[in-house]
Amino acid sequence: MCGIIGYTGERPAAPILLDGLRRLEYRGYDSAGLAVSSGAGFTCVREAGRVSALADKVAPSSLPATCGISHTRWATHGAVTEANAHPHLSSDGCIALVHNGVIENHLALREVLLAEKFSFVSETDTEVLANLIALLYRGLDEGNPVDRFTEAVRLALGRVQGTYGIAALCREAPGHIIGARLGSPLILGVGAGEHLLASDAAALVSSTRNVVYLKDREVVHLTPDRFSLSTISRQSVSAVVSKIAWSVEDTEKGDFSHFMEKEIFEQPAALENAMRGRFADDESSPKFGGLNLTPPELRRIDRLLFCGCGSAWHACLSARYLIERYARIPVDVEYASEFRYRNAPLAKDTLVFVLSQSGETIDTLAALREALAKGYRVLAIVNSVGSTIAREAEGGIYQHAGPEIGVASTKAFTSHLMLAAMLAVYLGRMRDLSFTEGCRLVAGLRRAPGLARQALDLAPAIRSVADRFTHFDDMLFLGRQQMFPLALEGALKLKEIAYIHAEGYPAAELKHGPIALVGPQCPCLFLAPNDEVLPKVLSNVQEVKARGAPVILISTADAPIPDGLADEHIILPACPEPVLPVIAAIPLQLLSYYIAVNRGCDVDKPRNLAKSVTVE
Ligand code: F6R
Repeated sequence: MCGIIGYTGERPAAPILLDGLRRLEYRGYDSAGLAVSSGAGFTCVREAGRVSALADKVAPSSLPATCGISHTRWATHGAVTEANAHPHLSSDGCIALVHNGVIENHLALREVLLAEKFSFVSETDTEVLANLIALLYRGLDEGNPVDRFTEAVRLALGRVQGTYGIAALCREAPGHIIGARLGSPLILGVGAGEHLLASDAAALVSSTRNVVYLKDREVVHLTPDRFSLSTISRQSVSAVVSKIAWSVEDTEKGDFSHFMEKEIFEQPAALENAMRGRFADDESSPKFGGLNLTPPELRRIDRLLFCGCGSAWHACLSARYLIERYARIPVDVEYASEFRYRNAPLAKDTLVFVLSQSGETIDTLAALREALAKGYRVLAIVNSVGSTIAREAEGGIYQHAGPEIGVASTKAFTSHLMLAAMLAVYLGRMRDLSFTEGCRLVAGLRRAPGLARQALDLAPAIRSVADRFTHFDDMLFLGRQQMFPLALEGALKLKEIAYIHAEGYPAAELKHGPIALVGPQCPCLFLAPNDEVLPKVLSNVQEVKARGAPVILISTADAPIPDGLADEHIILPACPEPVLPVIAAIPLQLLSYYIAVNRGCDVDKPRNLAKSVTVE
């Protein structure tokens, strides 16, 4: 949440900052701003609204400065106004600051600063930190301005409680940027004669693919030709420069109307990438290189706990069905936000998996840390390479799905489902699954990309279903067993991007309450593939039909569905069981997408949302 980009080099900073903000906009889009060093101070331009509104206000040709910082905001403290937009300047004009995160003790610090004659023009916690750095800078009368600036940032961060990713400028140290992080991501971009700082690699790739992922409590000092890394407590840190695996083209929409549409259609490739190099030579099992647990250790695991948030939590639920079925290991599933505060008694040999696309979701990170603190082994299934969750987990699996920019998760979700299915078979092969059964399941897993392509071929048909269901205000999504997490995901997609009230339920729960909503104004979408519970699902369809509800049925080609049962019938190809959830997700994504487009919604930037939830 919120995006930061800073630049120091030889090129004018403003166009680079605006380009970076556009690429980071999915992290927050209620206001934006930039500050560049200029003459004896800063030129600071801010605007409520999108980055495009800021760009309209900035005339880059009038801003030749080659050092600056910028920010796109998702409001935490203070309304969406220009005054609350970042950067914030200290009231003496000495410090400019952009910040992600929350300074929890900002009210107490504000009193201290008021007593020192600092003043405030915004309601934000960030302005408090800018003034605090300025106060501490003023108090350091020894040394050159750069050293004093760095020290003042360190001292200020030592006094704040909460989380931060920051980039700061000092009027008296032009060309220098100080960055630091605790709980909010920050990445250094290493260029030739220039350095950048950003909350996400997406903002850096147009300038450089060489990056350093900062760790919590690290401070970075950037000038055009060098950078240095240290801890807040002044220990020097040697930097590890990594290379971003994808290119700037991967972060662009190309011919698609929205990132979400592009990412839906990228799913066959994302599934290929999830599988690449991950099957045993004899094709009897998946294999994973990074779990950092030996087969005997994995065999000893007698319980699994899966944690995540939002769509990743739905993927955790799907993992439960798959792992319990194929590996016969009991699986618990928890919302990361609940687990972190619940003093859950876990069985001794529980292995914890956290699932996260961004690898930065604060609650998932906190759940991981809580489980590690209690002495459990924690592995992660993460898309973002080098992210905090990826680094702090003891091992795990990278999704390699490529950057996901649309706020609503699509390809990362199906990639999580794919990896969960592979993990289920992998763990199963260490227990009761035979060689023959393993080979059969692997052959099924390998079909996922091709089946996903066939599901995507249904897009025109799904678009016409969407046309018919665009005007409804409520919808129920229903499925049993493996299809229940998909029902939850379908409902989440529809509500988050099309703003239609939608609920997902196990189909049998219908009669325990939700059926009271059912009628001609509340369509019901059923997931009804050819599985052992199909007859039960079809009975539930009859129950809602009897009450006049319009019905959308998503089934598979091998499912015996009576003619005329549904108002709209979307028929997926017959799927091998472990990949069924992956393929069933695709029509749900397409349906929500087309309904949202029909309703004129801003699909990639749904209201109030932002990707990568880094505040609690
Ligand atoms: C829904 C969605 C969110 C995320 C959730 C977790 O479409 O995108 O619910 O799934 O915020 O994010 P990650 O996976 O980055 O931890």
